Amino acid sequence: MLDHLTVVTHPLVQHKLSIMRDKETSTAGFRRLLREISLLLAYEVTRELDMTTAEIETPLTKMQAPILDGKKLALISILRAGNGLLDGILELIPAARVGFVGLYRDPETLQPVQYYCKVPELLDQRMVIVVDPMLATGNSSVAAIDLLKAKGAANLRFLCLLAAPEGIARMKAAHPDVPIVTAAVDERLNDHGYIVPGLGDAGDRMFGTK
Ligand code: URA
Repeated sequence: MLDHLTVVTHPLVQHKLSIMRDKETSTAGFRRLLREISLLLAYEVTRELDMTTAEIETPLTKMQAPILDGKKLALISILRAGNGLLDGILELIPAARVGFVGLYRDPETLQPVQYYCKVPELLDQRMVIVVDPMLATGNSSVAAIDLLKAKGAANLRFLCLLAAPEGIARMKAAHPDVPIVTAAVDERLNDHGYIVPGLGDAGDRMFGTK
């Protein structure tokens, strides 16, 4: 069983992340690195996929070969930055089902409000991996997972690139059953809810909107 928090300390992940943090890294470079890093993180977050065996025939003999079992897993991207992680993971797991959850923060209540939700059917029978590069306050992650649980998801993982201690604590309090996989845990959030030292606004950096 994955721990509640797994930090992927692999040298390739850490090196790529450092280049992504650098404010001089271009939009194209950021996007390419995010795609590469997401493959490595996906390897870790899918460790516990169910396996079975099937008989195959090699050029030499028959054998019982290990293969994935059960329904295709579901990847759920929290819009819009989640899509940056999604692209890379889909290269590794092309048959995965994909869903999207859109949430914005109400300026008065500061609570997340859902504006879009389209997810695969039979979530109760799939491993469901929620992807969002930045686990900051944890408000949108918790809200997205609330929503997915209400739709039957019971075997969930949360995959991000960077996490703040505040977001990890919020997720642990709300969803202790959902393991988090991340490339790093940073120091803190600043007054605007940005992760410090962080990498800035992940959506802006991957889409070049600022
Ligand atoms: N979202 C981001 O894109 N960056 C942060 O630092 C926090 C939330």
